[in-house]
Amino acid sequence: MTNSMQYIWITGAGSGIGEQLALLLADLGHTIIISGRDAGRLQAVAARNPDRIHALVFDVTDSFATSLATQQLQALVPWLDCVILNAGTCEYVDPPVLDMAMFERVMATNFFGMLNSFNAALPLLRVAPSRPHLAGVASMASYVGFPRAEAYGSSKAAAIYLLNSLRTDFGSWLDVTVINPGFVATPMTSANDFPMPFLISSEEAARTIAARLPRRPLTLAFPRRLHWTLRLAQLLPAVWYRRIVPGMARKQA
Ligand SMILES: NC(=O)c1ccc[n+]([C@@H]2O[C@H](COP(=O)([O-])OP(=O)(O)OC[C@H]3O[C@@H](n4cnc5c(N)ncnc54)[C@H](OP(=O)(O)O)[C@@H]3O)[C@@H](O)[C@H]2O)c1
Repeated sequence: MTNSMQYIWITGAGSGIGEQLALLLADLGHTIIISGRDAGRLQAVAARNPDRIHALVFDVTDSFATSLATQQLQALVPWLDCVILNAGTCEYVDPPVLDMAMFERVMATNFFGMLNSFNAALPLLRVAPSRPHLAGVASMASYVGFPRAEAYGSSKAAAIYLLNSLRTDFGSWLDVTVINPGFVATPMTSANDFPMPFLISSEEAARTIAARLPRRPLTLAFPRRLHWTLRLAQLLPAVWYRRIVPGMARKQA
C-alpha cells in the first residue's frame, strides 16, 4: 500500500477490524472490495462510501467459489495492489471435550479460508503494475498456549506459517505481511467472558494497520505492550505455563 490510489481487497470486512479498515482506506482514496458471507452487512458498509467501496459475497470456506470469486474480482477491478486476508472466526474448546467438528470449522475459515482467498486473488495480484502486497490477519494468540484456545490458536499459528512460507515462494514479486492483533473490541470478542488486557477499539486497530502497512513490514503486531509481554512469555515458558496459566484457567473455571 502506498499513498497513490490502490485496488485493495479485504476479506471479512462486514464488521469489526475489516469494516473499520475498509472505511479508513476508502477515505484515503483507495478503491476497496470488501467480502464476507452477509450481503446485507457488506452493503451497509459499502453504502458509507459507495464510490470507493464495492461488496462481494464470498464464503472463504467454499473452495468451489474460488474461481468464481476471481471472475467477480476481475469484473470490479483491473488488478489488486493489496489483499488483506482478514476473515476469521473464533470458537473455544470446552475441556475435557475436544470437539472435532469445531476444530474443523475454525481451521476451515482461518487456515483454508486464507488459502482459498489467496488463490482467488493470485491472478489479479500477478497483473499488478507495481509490486503487490499480501497481508494476512493472524493473532498474538499463536505466540503461547492459552486456555481453551487449542482450535483458534492452532489455526492462527498455521496461518502465520502459511504466510511466511508463501513469502519464501512468491517473495520475488510479492511482499507478505503477517498482522498479529492483540485484543480488539469487535463482534468476535464481545462474547469473551475473561479479562482482555490492553483491549483496543476496532477503529484504533484499523488506524494502526493503515499507518504501518505501507512500510510493508514482515510482521505488524499491536498493541506493542501485549506483543512484548507475550514475547517474554515465549522466552520464559516455565513461568508462563506453571505460574501464570494456572491462575488464568482457575479464573475461567
Ligand atoms: N478481535 C480480536 O481481538 C482479534 C485479535 C486477534 C486477531 N483477530 C482476527 O482479526 C480478524 C477480524 O476479526 P474481528 O475481530 O474483526 O471479528 P469480526 O467482526 O467477527 O470479523 C470477522 C469477519 O470475518 C467474516 N467471516 C467469518 N467467517 C467467514 C467465512 N467463512 N467467509 C467469509 N467471511 C467470513 C465475517 O463476516 P460474515 O459473517 O459476513 O462472513 C466477519 O465480518 C479475524 O481473522 C480474527 O481472528 C481478532
